[in-house]
Formats: sequence, structure tokens, C-alpha cells
Amino acid sequence: MTAAVIDGKKIAGHVREKVAAAVSRLKSAHDVTPGLAVVLVGEDPASQVYVRNKHKATEAAGMVSIMHQLPADTPEVDVVARVRDLNADDRVDGILVQLPLPSHIDEHRVINEIAPEKDVDGLTEVNAGRLMLGKKGLVPCTPQGSIILLKEAMPELSGKTAVVVGRSILVGKPLALLLLAENCTVTVAHSRTQDLAGVCRGADIVCAAVGMPELIKGNWVSDGTVVIDVGINRIDAPERGAGKTRLVGDVAYDEALAHASAITPVPGGVGPMTIACLLRNTVLAAARRRDIADPKGL
Ligand code: GUN
Repeated sequence: MTAAVIDGKKIAGHVREKVAAAVSRLKSAHDVTPGLAVVLVGEDPASQVYVRNKHKATEAAGMVSIMHQLPADTPEVDVVARVRDLNADDRVDGILVQLPLPSHIDEHRVINEIAPEKDVDGLTEVNAGRLMLGKKGLVPCTPQGSIILLKEAMPELSGKTAVVVGRSILVGKPLALLLLAENCTVTVAHSRTQDLAGVCRGADIVCAAVGMPELIKGNWVSDGTVVIDVGINRIDAPERGAGKTRLVGDVAYDEALAHASAITPVPGGVGPMTIACLLRNTVLAAARRRDIADPKGL
């Protein structure tokens, strides 16, 4: 068997088209232009790239993008004050504080200052609680994008066994809850799980979100399994020349291709879905804040 490759770039493009159409309708029918504010503290190069990409994608979807760049030594109280200003700013429908924050700042404290109705990352206690309770809220972007890709390969998830490798707040835990909401039988595994290979072999769905390059080997993937690889790891690639690097996922992709029925590549799998789902959440937040029904088709 050779796996079908799930094209995250293409599917993210479809989500972004639907978002742009919903933005157009919000403008024409309600005179509302959704706005996304991104707060970046410090100069971490990877975060700067992510934030620039979010800015471009927000504008491309017809929304307003507001960037707040603060120096790395900004005191926590000043970051909190900035978030409170954005909560009160009516042009702003979504607020994203780029993580990680510098080590002198308590991330949890800052994230929880975001008004839940503007929390497009879905990371406040209120939105995490809603997800846990099965209530409508804003759902974290990467897990949401993972579910959309999974459904492309496996439209009927009910009753399937799913293993999530990784238990982070940003991905593993919310992804497990979303799979449970789809009536999957869910196992949450992690770096300390005993017989991780055996746990993975028993699953119809393997979602890898542990941040360890190529941890999951091809022979841990049973024939016919759908593999969603959330990992993005940069490793040395001396075969490409001195000092060169390349991106790999948490799954040994070439090996897994021979077993899986479908698999997401890295790059070009889950990555592009994160921004697409952020834009989607911003449109949903803009509508819900004004008691407008969720745009159709999103
Ligand atoms: N840093 C890496 N991924 C994310 C994300 O999804 N949201 C935020 N706020 N920061 C991140």
C-alpha cells in the first residue's frame, strides 16, 4: 500500500476562500470588517516569520490586521495592559498573543486576560472549559485544522480508535477532546508511554504532536491507518551541504508511506491549516460578538 498524501496547502486554500467569502458577506450585509490583532513580544526569528505570515494572510482574506510588537524586556504588566486595550477596542474581533513569551512573563496570566469572545487561539480557561464541556466556543487552530484534514481522508470518524501522541495545551489535549467529540475512542500517549509502538499499532488514526523528529517509525503504523503529523522539527541535513537543515515531522514519513492509507506531509500538511483556522476563528468571533449567525459553509 502507498498512502494518499493529504494536501494541507490545497485544503487550507479552500478554507481561506470560504473565509474570504464570509468576510465579503459580513461587509456587505452588516458593514462589519473583522479585525485581528497579533501581539509579539521580543525578536524570536521563528515567531517573527509566523507573525508576518499571519499578517499577510489576514489582509489577503479582506480583514484588518493590527500588529503590536513589543520589546523582549517589556514587563508583564505592560503586556497585560496591551491585551486589555485590545479587549476594549471595537475594531478588534480577534486577539492572538504569539507564544512562547519571554521567560519573565507568565504566559497563562497573559492569555487569560484575553476576552473569551476575542480568544481566536482558544487558549483561555473559558474556551478550554467550553471544549471540555462540549459547548460552543473558539477552538484552538492547529487541532481544528488537524480534524479537517483527517475528515478528508476518513469522513466517518465515529467508533474509530485514535491515538494522540503528545499532551500539550496547544495541540495534544484539545485534539483529544475534538476526536472524542467525533465519537472516536481516544488514547492520549506521550514521551513516557510504555510500548508506544504497540499503542500506535492498535490505532485506526495516529496523530503525532510530540515535537520529536521522526519518533514514530513506519512499522508502528498498521496497514490502512490515517496519520496526521503535527510535528515541525528542523534537523541538520548534511546531505544537502554543510550547515544545511530541513524540516521533518514527528513521523518517519518515507517509512510510514508504505503502511498508512493516508498521511499529512511536513511541510505542507497541518502547518498551513493553522493560519486558515485562525482566520476562520476571527470571522466567527466577529459574527458572534454581534449576535450574527455563524457564516454558512465555514
Ligand atoms: N506559537 C506556535 N503556535 C502558536 C499558536 O497556535 N498560537 C500562538 N498564540 N502562538 C503559537
